[in-house]
Parts: sequence; C-alpha cells; structure tokens
Amino acid sequence: MSGAGRRTVWVIGIGAGSPDHVTQQAIAAMNEVDVFLVADKGDATDELVALRHAICHRFIDAGRSYQLVTVPDPERQPQDGSGATAYERSVADWHAARVHAYAQILDGLPEDAVIGFLVWGDPAFYDSTIRIVDALPARSSLDVRVVPGISAFQALAAAHGVVLHAVGRPVHVTTGRRLVAEWRPDLGTVVVMLDGALACRALVDVAPDLVIRWGAYVGMPQQELRSGRLADVVDDLVALRASLRERHGWIMDVYTLSAG
Ligand SMILES: C[S@@+](CC[C@H](N)C(=O)[O-])C[C@H]1O[C@@H](n2cnc3c(N)ncnc32)[C@H](O)[C@@H]1O
Repeated sequence: MSGAGRRTVWVIGIGAGSPDHVTQQAIAAMNEVDVFLVADKGDATDELVALRHAICHRFIDAGRSYQLVTVPDPERQPQDGSGATAYERSVADWHAARVHAYAQILDGLPEDAVIGFLVWGDPAFYDSTIRIVDALPARSSLDVRVVPGISAFQALAAAHGVVLHAVGRPVHVTTGRRLVAEWRPDLGTVVVMLDGALACRALVDVAPDLVIRWGAYVGMPQQELRSGRLADVVDDLVALRASLRERHGWIMDVYTLSAG
C-alpha cells in the first residue's frame, strides 16, 4: 500500500515478449502492486494480454492477491487531414481519450491501492504509459516509479549477435512513418520500430547496399530473424511479414539498417 496519502504507481518494463526478459527489479515491483491496468487493444492482441497474465502468474508470490484490470483502448479516430500536424493531433486526441479512461478507472479504486502498468519492452521507447500517467488529473498525488525493461531492439541486436553502432558512431531510433524522410548515411545505424509496411523498401533505389537485420516476435516462441543486403532481401521480407501476420493474426517486427 502507498504511504503518506500518495498513491504509488509502478510503470514496469517487462521486456519484449519473453518471460526471461523480466528483471529482478520488475519482479520486486510487481510484488508490490495491488491492481494492474492493462490496455486491451482488441482480439488480435489477446495474446499480448495473455502474456501479461502469464508473467503475473509466474512472478508474483503465490500468497499475494492482486487484480488485473483490462482497460478497453479508446478507438483511434481517423486522421483529419494529412501531414505531421494532423498525425500529431490525432495521436494527442487518442492520448487524451486514454488519459480519461485511466482516470475513471483510478477514481473507482481504493485510494491506497498500489497501481501497476506492465509495459511492453522499455517504457522509454515508443510507449505512451509515462506520458499518460503524467497527464492524469491526479498526477500531483501520485508517486510514480519506473522500472526499465529490455527493449525490442536490444533483443533484436542480441538475437543477431551484433553491436548496433559502428565504433564511436551513433544509433538513430525512429519509426517506419519517419524513416524515408529522415534517412541519411551519416545517421549511423538506424533502428526502425512501429513499421507496418517495411518502409525501408523505398530506400532500395538510394541505398541498395544497406544491411538489414530484421526480427519478428523477437524473444517469443514464434521468433523469425532475417538479414542481408537490403536490395536482395526486402521483397522476401515483405512477403514473409504478410504471411506471418496472416498465420498469427498479429505481428510485431523491428529492424536495423546499417552500412555493414
Ligand atoms: C508500441 S512499440 C513498443 C516498444 C517497446 N516499448 C520496446 O521498448 O520495445 C511497439 C513496437 O515495438 C517493436 N516490438 C516490440 N516487441 C517486439 C518483439 N518482440 N519483436 C519485434 N518487434 C517488437 C515493434 O517495432 C513494434 O511495432
């Protein structure tokens, strides 16, 4: 339970899908939580909600009681217009709807209940939980504690057995949506997340010799890894991605682009 009238909220990185990614720090935090809030994004990701249940079951002490409350994720409204501003506005509206949904749930819970969010990967990369918690009307009365997790791209690098950056060079982390506009050779290794369409295909003409290291469901039983010269492998990757998505009903993939 929380002390001194402040409600404790744990934002816990659980790694990118393997229970083996869950750290001792995450386990200790999970064992303090009374109510876990889990965003329910619909049928295709039931497996991801189930994995959180399995992680709780495996790592929370047998005698401890806790609740896992799924919070239906508000529907993302169609973007009103095109371009970065319209996109950012649509994300901001969606975040506001999520803040509202979580605020309502929190209002209905006992004041001393310790809250936990089980965040996929690391909460610091492409995850809105910390921003949502920071935007809660009750933020000033919350004691927010964050536990880092293994991010998908760290798991990817390990699975391929590589160092991400060339010696003394940078790593640029971005999304599929931004990749083509941002890419330049001097970015160093580029990590691409949240890419529903392998946007790197559009770089084949300008940089055919880039090396792609790709992984889907990294760390999970259905893990698939591929690598090669971008121009040689990208068409096969697009086809593989589509067939995996069809077979499993959902896909999460991540890749790096580098000079070698
Ligand atoms: C909403 S972001 C969450 C990122 C997460 N916070 C992290 O640190 O990995 C979801 C994206 O992460 C990547 N991702 C997460 N888990 C993955 C996995 N096990 N295998 C491949 N990609 C994954 C994919 O690019 C996916 O589109």
